[in-house]
Amino acid sequence: MQETIERQGDIVPVPASAKEGTSCTLEQYNEMYARSVDDPDGFWMEQAERLDWIEKPTKVTDWSFDPVNIKWFTDGKLNICANALDRHVAAGKGDTVALIFEPDSPDTPDRKITYAALLADVIKMANTLKKMGVKKGDRVTIYMPMIPEGAVAMLACARIGAVHSVVFGGFSPDAIAGRIEDCKSDYVICADEGLRGSKRVPLKGNVDEALKKVSVKSVLVVQHTGGNVNMTEGRDHWYHEYSEGVDTECAPEAMNAEDPLFILYTSGSTGSPKGVVHTTGGYAVWTETTFRYTFDYRPGEVYWCTADIGWVTGHSYIVYGPLQAGATALMFEGVPNYPDHDRFWAVCDKHKVNIFYTAPTAIRALMREGDAHVKKHDLSSLRLLGTVGEPINPEAWRWYYEHVGHNNCPIVDTWWQTETGGHMITTLPGAHAMKPGSAGKPFFGVCPQLVDNDGAVLEGATEGNLCITRSWPGQARTVYGDHDRFVQTYFANYRGKYFTGDGCRRDEDDYYWITGRVDDVINVSGHRMGTAEVESALVLHELVAESAVVGFPHDIKGQGIYCYVTLNAGVEPDDELAKALRNWVRTEIGPIASPDHIQFTPGLPKTRSGKIMRRILRKIAENDFGSLGDTSTLADPSLVDGLIEGRLNR
Ligand code: WTA
Repeated sequence: MQETIERQGDIVPVPASAKEGTSCTLEQYNEMYARSVDDPDGFWMEQAERLDWIEKPTKVTDWSFDPVNIKWFTDGKLNICANALDRHVAAGKGDTVALIFEPDSPDTPDRKITYAALLADVIKMANTLKKMGVKKGDRVTIYMPMIPEGAVAMLACARIGAVHSVVFGGFSPDAIAGRIEDCKSDYVICADEGLRGSKRVPLKGNVDEALKKVSVKSVLVVQHTGGNVNMTEGRDHWYHEYSEGVDTECAPEAMNAEDPLFILYTSGSTGSPKGVVHTTGGYAVWTETTFRYTFDYRPGEVYWCTADIGWVTGHSYIVYGPLQAGATALMFEGVPNYPDHDRFWAVCDKHKVNIFYTAPTAIRALMREGDAHVKKHDLSSLRLLGTVGEPINPEAWRWYYEHVGHNNCPIVDTWWQTETGGHMITTLPGAHAMKPGSAGKPFFGVCPQLVDNDGAVLEGATEGNLCITRSWPGQARTVYGDHDRFVQTYFANYRGKYFTGDGCRRDEDDYYWITGRVDDVINVSGHRMGTAEVESALVLHELVAESAVVGFPHDIKGQGIYCYVTLNAGVEPDDELAKALRNWVRTEIGPIASPDHIQFTPGLPKTRSGKIMRRILRKIAENDFGSLGDTSTLADPSLVDGLIEGRLNR
């Protein structure tokens, strides 16, 4: 963060190439933003008109943050799948490529799927789901690799009005089981295996493990690698067999704007991950509009977002945003360093990618491998770059701008969250000068506000907790099955406002700089994780008495996972046990939650009332021993010296 603050005067003007033919100049942004807050009904109705509505809404805004009740386009009816596919085919764009699939291995042929072909695929999947018994409103769990069938599965659910719950392919069987149970999902769609950097991921095997804990009616299995899997008679169906002979027509279900579209589980500061619910109409308008303006998409361009469909970025900016906008989106199955560290650039060159959207952690990792990997490839097709997921440090921003974007591609640093459905704060490429490390300006209709810990509103250039004071169409509506948790998590800290959980600084030019989470959520390689989740996994181990988990700065990942562990009486700590605990967390949650450090300690620093003093643990993990603050209120202040010593010894 220090670096960000020192560099705040660093302004990069809008490149001339970005001004040419832009859909939004600075004047237009100012005018549109003003209208979006002065006349939200008129503004959003106009944006909504780009979509096909089965019944046009007459009501646009209908929300309150106290009590919490959020609705948009309330009496409208539409189908987001029809908007993503049928609408373009009907407009004569059936031959336009919708998805370019680049497989894990560069030696495997790529696939180009037109809008017409994708529609046919989705109809086939939709009718197969119907044959399996899936009905409107049913929850369908999707556990797929990054292959077109993942997007097809999501769109097929949307077409028939089923609610998808995509579980990231890197999550463990336990995590799958928990999510299936939470949303009472009777159906699973998965692939036999996934491929990542030539390694096989046993997706069906993981589903089988999960289904030892919870049961479902049916599992639909897409054959991808052809690897060996077990099929349970009566429950599991091969997609290629079960879909044989299904109808080639399937009318899209007329969904009310407020009917749920999907559930996506995300981590918070307490408890197990929450099933964030997005509904149909507002999300459709929000993802189409943000995609169109943030990326300034022009027909014919190839757009590539490197996220996984298991995260919200994949939902909004691989599937729903680009397809509703009629774009050509690239889907990449593999990883940035396979077969070599130049894979991203090789793919950009091969498919002449124009818009490239990735995470700062990937940029930092590739930057470390040196410029030669980038120089090997012709990246002249690139017109615009984007980042998402965590703050980008100015060094990485500069490298991205110079080496990948050849000094003339604007970079959009898009701040948003699973709960916001789409971009909230970002510069617009043809409108705003960029400040490396700052997300920039609020998107249309977004009203950010900074408050102090007591909720007092902070004006002008200042730093505080980031809230949003008005609803926007893509806002999550509830937590599945627990509206009270939704209210408590997002609206109770500062009544009448949505609290993001992020800290933020606003500078004298009204640019917003996200400083990171102010709660117990950490951001590891752009993946959001609750420290409480890792703690619960650790204490499940039979030798662990207690644990406290904090984030610490990590050069590549942004933040790493630091675990303080107290063992049961009589158990001797050693390296073997540390390794075993690391593996334990991987198995419980998934590889993304792998602890970076495990430090054993005879006890955790607690207040006399028994509250763990995380502030102290955070400072120690950061190697910042000088500012531990007041430790006299600890029940056992002598623990601190031992913790520091333990930290120094690693
Ligand atoms: C962080 C991902 C700084 C932030 C879309 C937020 C960012 C959390 C940025 C949401 C950005 C996301 N700059 N921080 N451009 N984008 N974040 O739900 O802390 O996986 O609250 O959504 O990521 O993570 P989530």
